[in-house]
Parts: sequence; C-alpha cells; structure tokens
Amino acid sequence: LCIHDPTMKRTFEPVSVLVMLALTAIAVGAGLWWHQRSADADNPYAHLGGDFTLASASGPVSLSDFQGQVVMLYFGFTSCPDVCPTDLARMSAVISGLTTAEAAQVAGVFVTVDPERDTPERASEYARFFSPYIIGLSGTPQEIEAVARQYYVIYNRIKYAGSALGYTIDHTATTYLIDARGVIRDRLQHDASVDEVRRAVRNLIPG
Ligand code: NI
Repeated sequence: LCIHDPTMKRTFEPVSVLVMLALTAIAVGAGLWWHQRSADADNPYAHLGGDFTLASASGPVSLSDFQGQVVMLYFGFTSCPDVCPTDLARMSAVISGLTTAEAAQVAGVFVTVDPERDTPERASEYARFFSPYIIGLSGTPQEIEAVARQYYVIYNRIKYAGSALGYTIDHTATTYLIDARGVIRDRLQHDASVDEVRRAVRNLIPG
C-alpha cells in the first residue's frame, strides 16, 4: 500500500523533561497509525481509485484538492434523462441536510463520461444546477477513460434513434465515498436513500 497518511507526518514537539509524556505521545501516534493501516487492509476498495486531474469551467481540479474533505464522486453525463439527475439530486439533498460545519467538510464531484458533448463548462454548469457544493469535470476522451478505469466505472455509447442526440450512454451509477485522505471507503448504489448516503458521509467526516 502506498497511501499517503497525513498522520504519519505529524512530528511531536520535543519534550525534554517529560520523557514519559513524549513516549505516551509516540505510543498513541503508533496506535493511530496501526489502526489506520488495519482500516486500509480491511477496505475492499483500497485497490481502486486514486488521484486524478480533470478540467472544470474555472481550470484544472484534482481529487487531491479536496484532501481533508469527504468527497462524493459520481460519473455520468449531462444529457442523461433519468439516472444522473436522480443521483445528483440525492447528492444535493445529502449536502443540504448537513450542518454548515459538516457541509464545509464535504464536496461533490461529478465526472462526465460524455466528454464529446460535455465540455468542462457544461459539466460545471450542470453540477452547479444541483448544488453549489458539486463540481463538474470533463477532459479529453482519453483522460476520462483513464479516470473511469481507475474507478472501475463502465460506460458504453448506445445508438438511440429516438433521440436528437443520436446516442445515449449506459454507465455505472455508483456514488463513491472518498475519505479525507483520498481513499475510497464506500460505494453506494442508485437505490440508496438520502438518509443512507448522508449517514455514510457523516461517518467519514473527520474529527
Ligand atoms: Ni446517467
């Protein structure tokens, strides 16, 4: 595992006289470190995900920009007739039901799987329509493909004659919950309720 753990970077203030205090601090630090390591070992999603950088309307955005926050990450496309709007409305409702202090520690990220039609501007505008806390991202088809592969997201263009768009996209409708260290901790499906998602998000809010 090569997961960056900010707790490991913590340095303890030199305590010259109270040696016992220092030793206690080190023991606690080691305990936290070990606990965190065990949590990663038990995490079925530890092999998925990771950092990426894509384009928003106002420039590049990386997942690591949200370090310290819990991220709800969702892949979809702005012309989606049904599933995406439902899931993004749920994401918005999850955030609206948090306290202001909690909401400051939570962000939504929407990544389009339709980069040909969804420019960064369009993806951003779409996400913002649901909530100011959700950021919409796009990129080149290759960039999107790479990020989708990282997160095991599958998407397929389906020819759709009944639509002026000419095609629709079948895609994984999964909301990933990513903890404050950038590690995937949960994967919620389309049928999960607002309360269920909010509870899972709250569990990951640090402190
Ligand atoms: Ni969709």
